[in-house]
Amino acid sequence: AGPGSGAFTMSPQAPPVAVFKLTADFREDSHPQKVNLGVGAYRTDDCQPWVLPVVKKVEKLIVEDSSLNHEYLPILGLPEFRSAASKVALGDDSTAIKENRVGGVQALGGTGALRVGADFLRRWYNGTNNTATPVYVSAPTWENHNGVFADAGFKDIRPYHYWDAAKRGLDLDGLLDDLEKAPERSIFVLHACAHNPTGTDPTQEEWKKIAEIMKRRNLFVFFDSAYQGFASGSLDKDAWAIRFFVSEGFELFVAQSFSKNFGLYNERVGNLTVVAQDNENLTRILSQMEKIVRTTWSNPPSQGARIVSKTLNCPELFSEWKGNVKTMADRVLLMRDQLKTKLQDLGTPGTWDHITQQIGMFSFTGLNPKQVEYMIKEKHVYLMASGRINMCGLTTKNIDYVAQSIHEAVTKVQ
Ligand SMILES: Cc1ncc(COP(=O)(O)O)c(C=O)c1O
Ligand SMILES: *[C@@H]1O[C@H](CO)[C@@H](O)[C@H](O)[C@H]1NC(C)=O
Ligand SMILES: *[C@@H]1O[C@H](CO)[C@@H](O)[C@H](O)[C@H]1NC(C)=O
Ligand SMILES: *[C@@H]1O[C@H](CO)[C@@H](O)[C@H](O)[C@H]1NC(C)=O
Ligand SMILES: *[C@@H]1O[C@H](CO)[C@@H](O)[C@H](O)[C@H]1NC(C)=O
Repeated sequence: AGPGSGAFTMSPQAPPVAVFKLTADFREDSHPQKVNLGVGAYRTDDCQPWVLPVVKKVEKLIVEDSSLNHEYLPILGLPEFRSAASKVALGDDSTAIKENRVGGVQALGGTGALRVGADFLRRWYNGTNNTATPVYVSAPTWENHNGVFADAGFKDIRPYHYWDAAKRGLDLDGLLDDLEKAPERSIFVLHACAHNPTGTDPTQEEWKKIAEIMKRRNLFVFFDSAYQGFASGSLDKDAWAIRFFVSEGFELFVAQSFSKNFGLYNERVGNLTVVAQDNENLTRILSQMEKIVRTTWSNPPSQGARIVSKTLNCPELFSEWKGNVKTMADRVLLMRDQLKTKLQDLGTPGTWDHITQQIGMFSFTGLNPKQVEYMIKEKHVYLMASGRINMCGLTTKNIDYVAQSIHEAVTKVQ
């Protein structure tokens, strides 16, 4: 044994990340009719990843632009990216932007934006290093929310009521009750639209009730906006909740991901939008953000941010992008409609209206873990143990097979 041997005996094997494990299992499966409904990424009707036409166009412009180089970006990111991103989230005519109290931090995807925001809150929210501040995440939620806030140091991460399994919809009473009972200044992570994994969002009236309590009880809003455009096909509609909270005077964070709506998953394009009380507060906050970024990734990568900012800052490219987003959203809506109709035509027990009532990339089918296991083992249709399916994995070619498989799972397995 050499020097240092045994240094790592204390590091146990960590369990695999469920959604990546599912994709690995899918790849190894040689069944000709296999279908992957796991990972949250868009697919075309030929089941292929889609490079948005507008992205291809902008990539060409970037290659041909001899003024660009590969120097370090500023710590907080590409300036024109940072300013364009807030406009997408808050709207062109946002009063908060005009009042110079909105700033952004370019981050490594939506995940990086959540992490920078969480690190900042742990250091500077309601005191310093206040790791006892409760952080509430929806039950269920994107599982990484728990890990990101725990790794940032928060010790008290709690679920808030969200999904009512019996009625396959929002548990509004449970949610409002949790808001009423949470200690003042608790942090709430809210999905801005297209809730992952349930595909169920509050209505505008319900958002207003949520905001009323959060304001009265002085609770902190941390929006996670990973699917803007995917819910309705409209960027503005999908940002309604964020804009409403800002118009109500909240100081808040928005973790924006451009992975899904630009199809730029591996470029890691995200943005943390900070809405502060005034410019002086914002400046102080951003100076601390700069310190956090410096020790975390020092400064962000440029390629994805260039693609996004060139698109957002040019009116023609911007409208082309909106069209591309709508193409993706419309295909999802079509698949929802067809899946529901096919299950109803097959006479599959249960009601399937929730498939078209839910929105965004995912549907929470209501299949139980045993039925999910049957789908994977017997039918080679891969989905999350929670019963979540990625609607983009469905195509006009495999939807009959998937519907038949769900029918079998529901009728054969209890
Ligand atoms: C709710 C939610 N938040 C954040 C993210 C992270 O996005 P990104 O890949 O940009 O880090 C995802 C991605 O699946 C998500 O579903
Ligand atoms: C990032 O956020 C800031 C603050 O909201 C905003 O000004 C900027 O436009 C955002 N950048 C992008 C690309 O959305
Ligand atoms: C917060 O915690 C960090 C890391 O433990 C420590 O270095 C820092 O001094 C603390 N800050 C305050 C103000 O207590
Ligand atoms: C916020 O800080 C106050 C004053 O220190 C403290 O009493 C309260 O418990 C803190 N709230 C949370 C949610 O940590
Ligand atoms: C910063 O925001 C707080 C409220 O969050 C406010 O009381 C204060 O006046 C603002 N401006 C400055 C300069 O601190």
